[in-house]
Amino acid sequence: MHLSSLLLCLCLGALANCAAGSQWCYTGCEHTPSNWKDISGSFCGKNKQSPINITTSHVKIDQNLRNFTFVNFSSQHIIKSIKNTGHTVKGILKDNEAEVSGGGLNGTYSTIQFHLHWGDTEHHPGSEHTIDGHRYPMEMHIVSLKKGVPQPTEDSEGIAVLGFFINATDDGDMSGPWSTLTSYLTNDTDSEVDFNHTLSINDLIGNVNLAKFYRYMGSLTTPNCNEAVVWTVFQEPININKNLIQKFPMKTGLTNVFRPAQSMNGRHVYASPATPLPPSHPWCYDDHCEYSPSKWNMIPQSHCGGKSQSPVNIEARNAVTDEHLKAFSFTKFDEKHAIKYITNTGHAVKCVLKEDMLEVSGGGLGYDYSTLQFHFHWGSASHDSEGSEHTVDSHRYPMEMHIVNKRKDLSLEQAIQTPNGLAVLGFFIEAADAPKSSGGGSEHHEASPTSKPTSNTDAWKKLTSYLSHIKDISSKADVAEEISIEGLLGDVDRAAYYRYNGSLTTPSCNEAVVWTVFKESIKVDRNLMMMFPTHAGYRNVFRPAQSLHNRTIFTTASAPSVPGPVTLCLLLACLCALFNNLPL
Ligand SMILES: *[C@@H]1O[C@H](CO)[C@@H](O)[C@H](O)[C@H]1NC(C)=O
Ligand SMILES: *[C@@H]1O[C@H](CO)[C@@H](O)[C@H](O)[C@H]1NC(C)=O
Ligand SMILES: *[C@@H]1O[C@H](CO)[C@@H](O)[C@H](O)[C@H]1NC(C)=O
Ligand SMILES: *[C@@H]1O[C@H](CO)[C@@H](O)[C@H](O)[C@H]1NC(C)=O
Ligand SMILES: *[C@@H]1O[C@H](CO)[C@@H](O)[C@H](O)[C@H]1NC(C)=O
Ligand SMILES: *[C@@H]1O[C@H](CO)[C@@H](O)[C@H](O)[C@H]1NC(C)=O
Ligand SMILES: [Zn+2]
Ligand SMILES: [Zn+2]
Repeated sequence: MHLSSLLLCLCLGALANCAAGSQWCYTGCEHTPSNWKDISGSFCGKNKQSPINITTSHVKIDQNLRNFTFVNFSSQHIIKSIKNTGHTVKGILKDNEAEVSGGGLNGTYSTIQFHLHWGDTEHHPGSEHTIDGHRYPMEMHIVSLKKGVPQPTEDSEGIAVLGFFINATDDGDMSGPWSTLTSYLTNDTDSEVDFNHTLSINDLIGNVNLAKFYRYMGSLTTPNCNEAVVWTVFQEPININKNLIQKFPMKTGLTNVFRPAQSMNGRHVYASPATPLPPSHPWCYDDHCEYSPSKWNMIPQSHCGGKSQSPVNIEARNAVTDEHLKAFSFTKFDEKHAIKYITNTGHAVKCVLKEDMLEVSGGGLGYDYSTLQFHFHWGSASHDSEGSEHTVDSHRYPMEMHIVNKRKDLSLEQAIQTPNGLAVLGFFIEAADAPKSSGGGSEHHEASPTSKPTSNTDAWKKLTSYLSHIKDISSKADVAEEISIEGLLGDVDRAAYYRYNGSLTTPSCNEAVVWTVFKESIKVDRNLMMMFPTHAGYRNVFRPAQSLHNRTIFTTASAPSVPGPVTLCLLLACLCALFNNLPL
């Protein structure tokens, strides 16, 4: 008697613990998406996770991705019940009736359920996958298990999920299949409601072209995030009335039920032959490709022929002093683990930062910006190489570093279409042992005091040590070393800079950039600088200067510089001498 009640307690205790341990949510609990990896037994921190952002310019056609075969998808009696699980709304299908095969799937999959992901009542979109950064209002997942596989969640292709984007229209059918489905929405998470209407899966899919889809290997998008899913994401969305979309957050009380995009970690996305992909427009800096810099303006949809293009030659003498160009405020630039990975884009070496970590404001920008990435432009591997994009009084520096920031209140998509959507901070890079001042310009060196100790060598050594890992174009390496932007910048003066409105310096050259070009250069060991062209395998990756047209370049007010008063004294002394010598 006592023993059995003790056992019962232990069992209940275990169950309670188990339930508490597996609790997860999208917001408002201990295990939000960024902490799902800490749930015991979960795979959420692994490297083949879903969802992802699909970058269409990187997608390759796979001829093996032929049409799907669907069984009983047009059956009007396939849906057994509807359930609010507390995380989503799920349509549970009758056992062993609907099936999917073909579409490049290896085997036949038995379809068991569909469910949805959505945003909130404020019209924020909530699809899980995104296409070139675009998030659709909703996403439907149709889940099927591979037949003949005893443990589908433990097989790398044990589960096939068909993902459909849902797009909001202003005036769609308010009485069709989706209206029927929404009539079952409830905030009651306990009950499973029998489905008493005639409705097929094909009714929900509508007229989406099922021959156009993307394919990649990934995971379940909720804990335990098992990496067992062959993903199909259809290119065309299901269009439904926006008022029906609103019913999902409103009637269920669940909002923003989607997981953020996960890293690709070297995975590829393929597409079926019928999927339209953006034409690839090979551009380069030399003339060994279809579009050399003088032809970038002919790349379809590019802005490279616009009137506010970058880079430019800065004529120091003509820069107009602007008192509003005050000090910048840099947030977390000293963070030593901010770099997510370093990659060789084929045009530059780029360090992609962790999202929403670093910020830039002040500096006369007028908005808060979040820092996305930094990258480099360089010349050749020779000692007198010149490879900066901007030039000052026609003087080209050996290298230029660009720190790219996006206005916090805009999505990337919006930012590249807004005149000040992006703020790029440009720093010239010179050899640490470079002789003081060279080339035509001298004024721009005025603000920089005599050469300083290079305190940033350590950071540059660590950064360049990764270049040998990314020799292949499109390759990338995780950055484990402690490297901060602050460490790379060292003690370079950030109060003296030029400001003008310009563009991205690579296609599509969007005129969305507020440019800051700092006057003082970062000093880096010459041998470390030479590693960029040597390891990347290409050189002279800078765009020639663009015409200023009627733009003005502004400058910070020159600091009360030491030479000023001295010069004045000398001048007075001269005048005195002059007067003294005059035979008055
Ligand atoms: C399709 O559904 C019907 C019942 O509606 C069922 O009899 C049939 O077996 C199903 N087809 C397959 C291939 O499972
Ligand atoms: C296809 O699936 C079968 C059975 O699950 C498996 O043995 C085989 O390796 C798979 N083939 C490929 C190409 O993945
Ligand atoms: C989404 O719906 C809007 C109308 O609300 C329409 O203009 C747009 O073309 C649709 N997008 C797609 C990809 O069908
Ligand atoms: C659930 O919805 C009903 C109306 O359909 C409402 O009265 C109730 O307050 C809601 N419950 C919660 C917890 O939101
Ligand atoms: C695949 O499906 C598309 C549209 O559903 C159709 O136009 C095409 O003919 C199909 N291809 C084959 C080989 O059946
Ligand atoms: C950039 O353009 C905006 C108008 O779009 C203007 O208000 C601003 O003064 C310009 N800034 C500079 C530095 O030219
Ligand atoms: Zn899902
Ligand atoms: Zn750049």
